[in-house]
Amino acid sequence: MDKVRVAVVGAGRWAQRAHLPGWSRDPRVEVVALVDSDRQVLGEAARLFGVRRTAGDYREVLDDPSIDVVDVVTANTAHFEVSAAAIEAGKHVLCEKPVHRDYRETKALADAARAKGLLTKLGFTFRYAPAVRYAKSLVDAGFIGTPYVFNGFEQNSQWIDPATPMRQVDPDADPEVIATSSIEGYGAPIIDIMHWWAGARLTSVVGTMRNFLPERVVRATGRSQRLNIDDGDMWICEFDTDIIASIQSSYVTVGNLPGIEARLYGSEGALIVRLVEEAGRCQTIRTATKDDPEFVEREIPAEFFPPGGSSTEDWDSLFYANLCADFTTEILAGGGTNQGDFAQGALVQETINAFEASFRRRAWVDFPLGGAA
Ligand SMILES: NC(=O)c1ccc[n+]([C@@H]2O[C@H](COP(=O)([O-])OP(=O)(O)OC[C@H]3O[C@@H](n4cnc5c(N)ncnc54)[C@H](O)[C@@H]3O)[C@@H](O)[C@H]2O)c1
Repeated sequence: MDKVRVAVVGAGRWAQRAHLPGWSRDPRVEVVALVDSDRQVLGEAARLFGVRRTAGDYREVLDDPSIDVVDVVTANTAHFEVSAAAIEAGKHVLCEKPVHRDYRETKALADAARAKGLLTKLGFTFRYAPAVRYAKSLVDAGFIGTPYVFNGFEQNSQWIDPATPMRQVDPDADPEVIATSSIEGYGAPIIDIMHWWAGARLTSVVGTMRNFLPERVVRATGRSQRLNIDDGDMWICEFDTDIIASIQSSYVTVGNLPGIEARLYGSEGALIVRLVEEAGRCQTIRTATKDDPEFVEREIPAEFFPPGGSSTEDWDSLFYANLCADFTTEILAGGGTNQGDFAQGALVQETINAFEASFRRRAWVDFPLGGAA
């Protein structure tokens, strides 16, 4: 196998901004089919990215043995169904987060894929940012020493204006009960990085969430109404080593996209990665050591970028190009490694479920939720 053949299911905004540009940039990949239930969106994306084969129903591509990968970029409601069917049909699967809101369902799919020798990948975009990959290589090389404290932020102003129409996840939700929103839709990638960098097993969590903007315009009706959703939150995590961590997410706080900041402080050194569009660049990394505690910016080595990539290009296509290339490398290598897979997706989702349980009970919650691992 020297070429990976991909069918992309869901051809909307994110497919056009990140997935299709990412796959198109890799000469080892061919996007052979594009699927969307919306004919207009489908036609436009197929034209823009030169994909000849199109379909309105994802089942049409599952029986084709020449397709290696199904890439699921639909609305959240179809993630699980399409991923499960694709794994059943023997395809490697890339899926946007969350695969399922219940971590046990995601874990079951991870196990099903593994049993068939298939690889899976979650759309954990920021794990593949060149600055984040470089930081991880420094951690692995011992730059931090023993890690003490991780701080993770996912904060931006995307929904700070309540007139920006938002999709209502559950129209039947009880307005008296605050529903998880920011931590689930935005917090997942920084929780992924926390687990990855901490290199330890999560044992307990506590935290809280708030609804800062009580009324918002709902996309389906175009009218302003009460939406009792978490638009800001803060959490503390303990692990089975000495490291402690905090996670903070909000999409109504002032700051540019994507709004990720990851800090790691240890016995020998510390690093701060910012994935925020500022001064024409989408990422920076600054480091300090115990002998020289003033943080200084480091240049990110070329090996952490996709070919031709630079920090001055759009963050979404830059980071996604690395994600697509990484999945392609893993598939062509025959499955020895598989980072950011559905099992990691289940771990991140279980963390979110534990955060929510802690808020509801106003108490520390033990992890894993199902008892000892
Ligand atoms: N990882 C990230 O950083 C990131 C960023 C943005 C969006 N996303 C995720 O990407 C996904 C898509 O978001 P979007 O903004 O492109 O939404 P969108 O509404 O623009 O596009 C989704 C498309 O999926 C199609 N679709 C829905 N159900 C389908 C089905 N069963 N079969 C075929 N087509 C179907 C819709 O017609 C639509 O064109 C969401 O899950 C979103 O959360 C991830």
